[in-house]
Amino acid sequence: MRKTLCYDDVLLVPQYSDIRSRSEIDISTDLGKGLVLQTPIIASPMDTISGEKMAIAMSECGGTAIVHRYNSIEEQMRIVTGARENGNDKLIIGAAVGISGDFLNRAAILQIAGADFICVDVAHGHHIAMKEALRTLRSALGDDMHIMAGNIATFKGINDLADWGADSIRCNIGGGSICSTRVQTGHGMPGLQTVLECAMTNRNVTIIADGGIKTSGDIVKALAAGADAIMVGSLLGGTDEAPGDIMTDNENNRWKIYRGMASKEAQIDWRGKYSSFEGISATIPYRGSAKEIMNDLERGVRSGFSYSGARNLCELQAKSEFIQQTSAGFSESKTHITNRN
Ligand code: XMP
Repeated sequence: MRKTLCYDDVLLVPQYSDIRSRSEIDISTDLGKGLVLQTPIIASPMDTISGEKMAIAMSECGGTAIVHRYNSIEEQMRIVTGARENGNDKLIIGAAVGISGDFLNRAAILQIAGADFICVDVAHGHHIAMKEALRTLRSALGDDMHIMAGNIATFKGINDLADWGADSIRCNIGGGSICSTRVQTGHGMPGLQTVLECAMTNRNVTIIADGGIKTSGDIVKALAAGADAIMVGSLLGGTDEAPGDIMTDNENNRWKIYRGMASKEAQIDWRGKYSSFEGISATIPYRGSAKEIMNDLERGVRSGFSYSGARNLCELQAKSEFIQQTSAGFSESKTHITNRN
């Protein structure tokens, strides 16, 4: 049986650095077909993460968001267009579609509405229906449109989706904070391992490490392992920009809902019923501005590049060296004063 690794299993070895300031570090990433992000962070296509406000905030912070598809075509188009109408023509906005039903019409309308890229968003992307959808979308949207697709968990998966027409691929099955796919189905692969294996592809495709990323340190590990960008839900959940109301309890604690798109609750809101569910709905503490969180993440990522002596993503991937840590090492790696007896 193969041994596999997740983010908490590893550390990056600090390297000699001649970088005197974090401002010397370029954390931009080129995802292909003109999709260049100044900050390699993408907000997930989820109904409690990526609406209009998140799309604007992420783009203003140098990243991007993918407007979710759990709504009518008109509503999704309104979000894409309304961002556009904010007056900032530098916004970069993606839009999600599925692989059945109205997906082709939806994608064509979103392209006209100004989406910079289309994300073919399904739980198990290494699937014949993905193959058919990618071929149809590629011929309808043209060669210049950046198409992101996923999710997959294997080397064979990334190669197939690349061959079927995807430009960037979301890698990780069941590793997200609200996912229960591994519990329900017994299938999945640790997130870091997925990136390490997918990074061996020889196809002209870029890698999005998606889900399970808890800290800026995890972002640096994902990028060092071969990701071109990372995708997050929970790190941006509970913020002002995330869709949904703030709830207040008797002690004045404030909360917001963050839920998996395959949770019972999301399915019922979206289509009035649920089938198998592979996610949960959670209340998480209200966390203020997504922009402040993005600024903190960016500072942590720049520091991470500096510890590997890397001025850009290419240097990070060339210079970084992973080591495996023990469970005692993992305890030492976290702040641990509050756990002392
Ligand atoms: P984080 O850890 O950032 O993960 O909260 C966000 C990612 O989780 C995926 N996702 C799901 N996976 N069931 C799943 O198994 C779900 O209901 C679900 N909803 C979202 C997705 O890849 C997202 O980017």
